[in-house]
Amino acid sequence: MSSSSQLHVLVLAAGKGTRMRSDLPKVLHALAGRTMLDRVLDAADCVQPASVSVVLGYGASQVEAAIGRLGIRWVLQAEQLGTGHAVRCALDESAFAADDRVLILYGDIPLLDAEVVRSLVDAALRAPLAVMTTVLADPTGYGRIIRNSAHAMVAIREQKDATPAEQGIVEINTGLMCVRADMLRHWLAQLAPQNAQGELYLTDIVGMAHAENVLIEGVVTPDPIKVTGVNDRWALAQLEREWQLRQAKALALAGTTIADPARLDIRGEVTMGRDVTIDVNVILEGRIVLGDDVVIGPNCVIRNATLGKGVHIHAFSHIDGADLAEEVVVGPYARLRPGTELARGSRIGNFVEIKASRIGAGSKINHLSYVGDTVMGAECNVGAGTITCNYDGANKHRTTIGDRVFVGSSSQLVAPVTVGSGATIGAGSTITKNVPEDQLAIGRAPQVLKAGWQRPAKKKNK
Ligand code: UD1
Ligand code: CA
Repeated sequence: MSSSSQLHVLVLAAGKGTRMRSDLPKVLHALAGRTMLDRVLDAADCVQPASVSVVLGYGASQVEAAIGRLGIRWVLQAEQLGTGHAVRCALDESAFAADDRVLILYGDIPLLDAEVVRSLVDAALRAPLAVMTTVLADPTGYGRIIRNSAHAMVAIREQKDATPAEQGIVEINTGLMCVRADMLRHWLAQLAPQNAQGELYLTDIVGMAHAENVLIEGVVTPDPIKVTGVNDRWALAQLEREWQLRQAKALALAGTTIADPARLDIRGEVTMGRDVTIDVNVILEGRIVLGDDVVIGPNCVIRNATLGKGVHIHAFSHIDGADLAEEVVVGPYARLRPGTELARGSRIGNFVEIKASRIGAGSKINHLSYVGDTVMGAECNVGAGTITCNYDGANKHRTTIGDRVFVGSSSQLVAPVTVGSGATIGAGSTITKNVPEDQLAIGRAPQVLKAGWQRPAKKKNK
C-alpha cells in the first residue's frame, strides 16, 4: 500500500433482516441505546477513512433519515442479490484508485470496535486481500474458512454449500474484509450465482485470489462477540447482556461498587469517581459524570447528568439533563428535568419535580412540589405542595427567589414574580405580587369563625 493510497469504507446494510420480525430495518435496532449502524459507523471513523459508503435496500430512506450523519455516501441496492452484488453496487459508483483499500463492514455487527477494525486494516497493508475470521464453538450458519495443508486460506464455503467435512470446520468468516480496490473490481466482475442460494457471494473472491496466487491475510480475532452479526432479536438481546456485563465489570474493576452487574444498564458514556455505589435496576443514559462517593439507590434512571462528590440519589428517582453539586440529596421519587442545577448541599425530596431551575446551596424542597423556570438562592425552605405557576397557557414566566426565603406549605407563586431574600410566605398563599426582602406575605382568605353555628340536619320524612 503506497503512502498516497487511501482507505474507503463500505458498510453493507441492504438486507431486510427478515428474522428480526420487525417493521424497523434491522440496522436501526439499537444496542445500549444506539442503532447498530451508528455503532458500526463509529468503529469505521476510528481508522479515518477517505470515504464512507453505506449500501441500503430495505427501508433505505428510513435508515438514511434515522442515521442523520453528514459525509456518508448512500448507495441503493434495489434488489438484494447477495453480498458480492452489494459491494459491486457501491464500487460501480466509485472512482477509487487502483491501490486504495476498500474496507467492507456489515451494518449488523454492533460491537465492532476500533481495535478489531485496525487489526484488519493493518493486515491489508501486508496483502491485497485481508479477511477477518474467528473461531466459534458452534459455527452453524456461517461461511467456513477453508485452509490448505500449509494452513493458507484458500476459500470460504457457505454453510449451504459445504460438505459434511467442511461443516466440521470451526473457523468462520466474520464478513469483514479489506481489499485492494483494483483486485476487488477484477474479482467482483467474475462472480456468478452458481451456489445453493443463487446469490453473488462476496466470499467467492477468496477462492479467486488463491487461484491467482494472490497473498491472502487471515486475521483471527480472539473475541467473537466483537464480530458477531445479529440475525434475530434473541441474538441482539444476548449481545446487549454481554456488553452490559463487560461495562459493569470495567466499572467494578475501576473502583465502583455494583450491587448486581446484571441489573445495571449503561446506554452511553460514564465517568466515575472513586467509591461510587450503585444499587440494583439503575439505568444510566447519555453522558454521565459521577463524582467520588456518589450513591445511587435502586430503580433510578439518570440521563445526561453530572453528580458531584457525595451526591446521594434515593430510590425511584428520574434525573435528566441536570447538574448536581457536591453533597446534594435527591429523592426518593424525585424528578429532575433538563436545565436543573442544584447547588452544594441542596435537597430535593419525594414527589418533587424541578425543571429549568437553579436551586441555591443548602436550599430544601422536600415534599410534593413543582418548581419550574426558577432561580432560588441559598438556604431557602420550600414547604410541601408548593407550586411555581410558570405557564399562563401561552408563555412561560420566571420566578426569582432570594436567599433564606421560607415558603409555607401549599403556596402558589404566580410567575413572573420575585420574592426577596429573607421573606416569609404564609402557608396556603397565592403570591401574585413581588414580595420585598424580609417581609411576611400572606395571600389567602382570612379565616372566619362563626360561634353558635349549627350543621344542617336531614329533613324529616313526612
Ligand atoms: C455472510 C457471509 C458468511 C459469513 C456471514 C457472517 C456471504 C456470501 N456470506 O453470510 O460467509 O459467515 O455473513 O455474518 O457473504 N447484504 C446486502 N445486500 C445483499 C445481501 C446482504 O447489503 O444483497 C448485507 C446484509 O444487510 C448484512 C450483510 O450484507 O448486513 C450480510 O448479509 P447476510 O445475508 O446476513 O449474510 P449471511 O448469509 O449471514
Ligand atoms: Ca447474517
